[in-house]
Amino acid sequence: MLNHAHPAAQGSYREVWDRSQDDRAGFWLEAAEAVEWVVAPKDAIEERSLTEWRWFPGGELNMSANALDRHVDAGRGDNAALIYDSAMTGTRASISYSELRDRVARFAGALRAQGVEAGDRVLIYLPMTPEAVTAMLACARIGAIHSVVFGGFAASELAVRIQDAKPKVIVTASGGLEPNRAVEYLPLVQRAIEICGGAAAGVQAVIVRDRDAVPGSAADYASETSARWIDWDDAEHDVTPADPVALPSDHPLYILYTSGTTGNPKGVVRDTGGYAVGLSWAMRGIYDFGPGDTIFTASDVGWVVGHSFIVYGPLLAGGTTVLYEGKPVGTPDAGAFWRILSSYGAKILSTAPTALRAIKREDPELRELTKYDLSSLKAVYLAGERMDPETWHWINDGLGVPVVDHWWQTETGWPICANPLGIEQLQTKAGSTTVPMPGFEVCIVDADGNDITAPGVEGNIAIRLPLAPGALLDIWGGHERFISSYLAAFPGYYASGDAGHFDEDGYLFVMGRTDDVINVAGHRLSTGSLEEVLTMHPAVAECAVIGVHDELKGQHAAGFVALKHGEQVHREELAAELVSLVREHVGPVAAFRDVTIVERLPKTRSGKILRKTIRQIVDGEPYKIPATIEDPSVIDALIEALGRTVHAPATTQIQVAAG
Ligand code: COA
Ligand code: AMP
Repeated sequence: MLNHAHPAAQGSYREVWDRSQDDRAGFWLEAAEAVEWVVAPKDAIEERSLTEWRWFPGGELNMSANALDRHVDAGRGDNAALIYDSAMTGTRASISYSELRDRVARFAGALRAQGVEAGDRVLIYLPMTPEAVTAMLACARIGAIHSVVFGGFAASELAVRIQDAKPKVIVTASGGLEPNRAVEYLPLVQRAIEICGGAAAGVQAVIVRDRDAVPGSAADYASETSARWIDWDDAEHDVTPADPVALPSDHPLYILYTSGTTGNPKGVVRDTGGYAVGLSWAMRGIYDFGPGDTIFTASDVGWVVGHSFIVYGPLLAGGTTVLYEGKPVGTPDAGAFWRILSSYGAKILSTAPTALRAIKREDPELRELTKYDLSSLKAVYLAGERMDPETWHWINDGLGVPVVDHWWQTETGWPICANPLGIEQLQTKAGSTTVPMPGFEVCIVDADGNDITAPGVEGNIAIRLPLAPGALLDIWGGHERFISSYLAAFPGYYASGDAGHFDEDGYLFVMGRTDDVINVAGHRLSTGSLEEVLTMHPAVAECAVIGVHDELKGQHAAGFVALKHGEQVHREELAAELVSLVREHVGPVAAFRDVTIVERLPKTRSGKILRKTIRQIVDGEPYKIPATIEDPSVIDALIEALGRTVHAPATTQIQVAAG
């Protein structure tokens, strides 16, 4: 698997990482040679202050040219760039680099024709179809900043993102396809624009890709006055294809919203040059991936995994990426992933542990595997949530290839810790995400920010500043929010929000979040935003949402609600109404089902809800009641109430007026 073609990926892991520390500028300037620049950078980094830095100052490039044109120019135009495989419609298509470049140039021209210029935002709300990749790269081609929103989010979540990013254009489709239903996007987009004040939202055009399988088209919205609704083909009619424009290295490529502690998602701002270099390094050093290789990343373009390892990473590297519309199980069976890997000769599978747990549940003996030839598969990469050792052993033994658990976040854009198979295959340890990657100096700090890194010592996982190229530089619309969210807690470090420890070999074990973020099937959700929704119910006085252990999804959200004085409710009805509210305001992806009505929530005397204690009780872990508890009898009442928890059905359609 070793591949030394990349200049900054030569030597042993230890040598490479040490060099990235000792000669940071030299290391990253060398890594930058993997990217095609219009104006090559002379410096690697400009450190403006302790909280502000820029990668490759003075450098100019275009991401779409790096992902497409350069491969066409190098004679690889006929190579497959994108393979589209939809288990939902049965469509299978291979799109070459030349073809994808032409599609992207045409759609970039269409965006321009709608008045989109460099720096303007374009919101992309598309299912897993090639149009999503085309739209993202088209934005990159003309310097528009895209913000992709996951299809499982509701209109209100879409609205929050429209309000924050202020897109000039929304690119969408009639809808997405879930195993049990078609998800119509257009009413959601219309509703989101309405929530933002109609014309006041500033969205000038909504470009719609009509899908046969889902009802709705731009024509249905012809009478809308808040924005022009245009069919995708009409938008492309007679436009001049756009050439890539040269952009400064720190030009924002995209904004990707992610959940934080509060209900307001944070718009992570990704630059162009740093991301291109960081990702190019990752494709070589971590994935050992290059031209001629195929990767199947089973995620969604709405998440960072999709941005980095369905779209930008594989195309920057000149390989082939598989875009799969379907599930790991049930579309039609637990062999779906193996079919794709063997059909397209994929070298790499990248997915979330939940997907493997879903396959394990359906097909523990891996019988489906025997139907396919997986000789092309060289490694499996997992991220998005903690990988439980049992599933790790199961898949490791079942596939017989290295299974790399790597740790990263929307914020960092590429893995912070991994097993760098492209440099050196290190011994794997179940439960560990292996070792830090170049540019990431990972430390364990205590609550006061003191470095307490030592084998076995548990604490907050922090990364010494500045972060590696490709990691976030800002939060959209607020450098102060960037500082307060990530840099203020431990001065000199980025606070990852995760807790864990190193072992004696320098392997990192990520154990869980330190904040109110939960991870449901690899989807990052804020319990704060779920609580905001539950308190909209007229009967709810206050509530707490916590992430509890889930065999399949890693975690699921459980709601504890205290009712307003004198409220008499039917438990099942209330639960159904709360589930309905969450689906309406956050989206089905929250998969919220469990509701427990309590007399009172356990709190400290200063009014802080004892979430950790509640979680420990629900998960059946040993717990200690804090001495500061307001009223210890509340705990007994809570334990009793747990016996009456309602597990509401998923598709409840009961309507409830928000109070
Ligand atoms: N658009 C609209 N709705 C969506 C959606 C999308 N893109 N993705 C999921 N949903 C809906 C589902 O239809 C489901 O709705 P329902 O409550 O009406 O049934 C709900 O959101 C929850 O979906 P999901 O989390 O997919 O759960 P599931 O029970 O349907 O499927 C798995 C379970 C394990 C198969 C599924 O979670 C999975 O594929 N996980 C892989 C995780 C992953 O790839 N994460 C990406 C992060 S890297
Ligand atoms: P996201 O930004 O959605 O990718 O979520 C990032 C969060 O997911 C991290 O902060 C971790 O809490 C969790 N996570 C991601 N990868 C891993 C991993 N390999 N092991 C444990 N937790 C992980």
